[in-house]
Amino acid sequence: MKNTIGIFDSGVGGLTVLQTMMKDLPHTDLMYIGDNKNCPYGDKSKAALYECASKVVEYFIAHQIKIIVLACNTTSANVLEELRAAYPNTRIIGVIDSTVQNFLRKEKEKVLVIATKATIDSHKYQDTIALYNKQVQVNELATPKLVPLIESGKYKKGIQETIKEYVTAYQGKIDSIILGCTHYPIIANQFKEVLKDICYISSSESVSKEVAYYLSEHHLIDTQHTRQIEINTTGDVEDFKFAAGSFFDFEEIKVHHIEV
Ligand code: DGL
Repeated sequence: MKNTIGIFDSGVGGLTVLQTMMKDLPHTDLMYIGDNKNCPYGDKSKAALYECASKVVEYFIAHQIKIIVLACNTTSANVLEELRAAYPNTRIIGVIDSTVQNFLRKEKEKVLVIATKATIDSHKYQDTIALYNKQVQVNELATPKLVPLIESGKYKKGIQETIKEYVTAYQGKIDSIILGCTHYPIIANQFKEVLKDICYISSSESVSKEVAYYLSEHHLIDTQHTRQIEINTTGDVEDFKFAAGSFFDFEEIKVHHIEV
């Protein structure tokens, strides 16, 4: 594989980033890792998150990968700087800056950020938005029941009730929502049923544009290259495919089990 980008998340959520990158970067090799053995990340401490993330980063580095996307808000919010300091020769890109830039371009005033507990507790979204625009009213809400439901693959039944429980109180009070977990675009339509016609910002789409820009600026795109995609999980391959089967097409991509 050539100039491969490593992409990783705690589970299937980062596939929403992979999907966008497959469209935006048709000539770039992509290697995905879902750390399902340690999923969910959302209620872990900073030290535990660093331990999980650094093992995955070292796996990528051992496979000659020099650009890594944390397709995970939880690690982007909590351990991005620490990982950059520990692995200075590897470019490590988080999802939060590009998501905030994408949000600011929409010029909205009252936003709800939903994310895992560890992302919300870091206040990374609130602080990053305030750096650029202090007038935006930022509401933060941890939604910890959602990732386990999505990872179980049985999220279609019953998830609407959980979403209602979380966001009904915000109906009519916000003009935008940041889906601050890469698992949430998978259930974006269920959010739309409750919150209707507000502005939806997905952290998964935002980061892909940043990577495409970086690769093109650094002349790292070879338009003659036929790209390869590899998907790995530290968990069970069949469970992984079951959880992601309703939104990701595995027809031409094999999923491997790996240890990191
Ligand atoms: N998808 C990840 C995120 O964006 C992690 C979710 C989890 O494992 O709790 O935060």
